[in-house]
Amino acid sequence: MFTPAWGLVMEDREIQGLAAIIRRHGRRPDALLPILHDIQEANGHVPAALLPAVASALGLSRAEVHGVVSYYRHFRQMPPGRHVVRVCCAEACQAVGAEAVAEHARRHAGDLTVEPVYCLGLCAIGPAVQVDETSLHAHMTPDKFDVLLRNLEQSS
Ligand code: FES
Repeated sequence: MFTPAWGLVMEDREIQGLAAIIRRHGRRPDALLPILHDIQEANGHVPAALLPAVASALGLSRAEVHGVVSYYRHFRQMPPGRHVVRVCCAEACQAVGAEAVAEHARRHAGDLTVEPVYCLGLCAIGPAVQVDETSLHAHMTPDKFDVLLRNLEQSS
């Protein structure tokens, strides 16, 4: 375990993982987005403890790196729940009730993470929902979401 000067604790595996990611993309400011994507892929979210090291490696300020992480909804700042449910909030799905599905999902999610997404390629059969990047669900309604939720609970 390592406690950097900025007082946040990083595990050795996090440091090694981050070093490999930065080596893969290079120490250039324009590598920030791909590096953040890889960090999230490796950790499920972008841990705040890694941001100062990313900023230092790329010659950016911590505020610049934090600004990018907080600007893009794609980047999670907290670990995700047991499952990640993405509700399409793009125009075609909005036109057929996606907002009601999203609101229902947020209220009943429990320990799931519910995120908006902007098009899952099912525009003609929306509202569309994706679970854990592995399954897609069309014609979603609040009632169908409850069934989906029960199935997820039973499969866990
Ligand atoms: S607009 Fe929702 S899947 Fe394309």
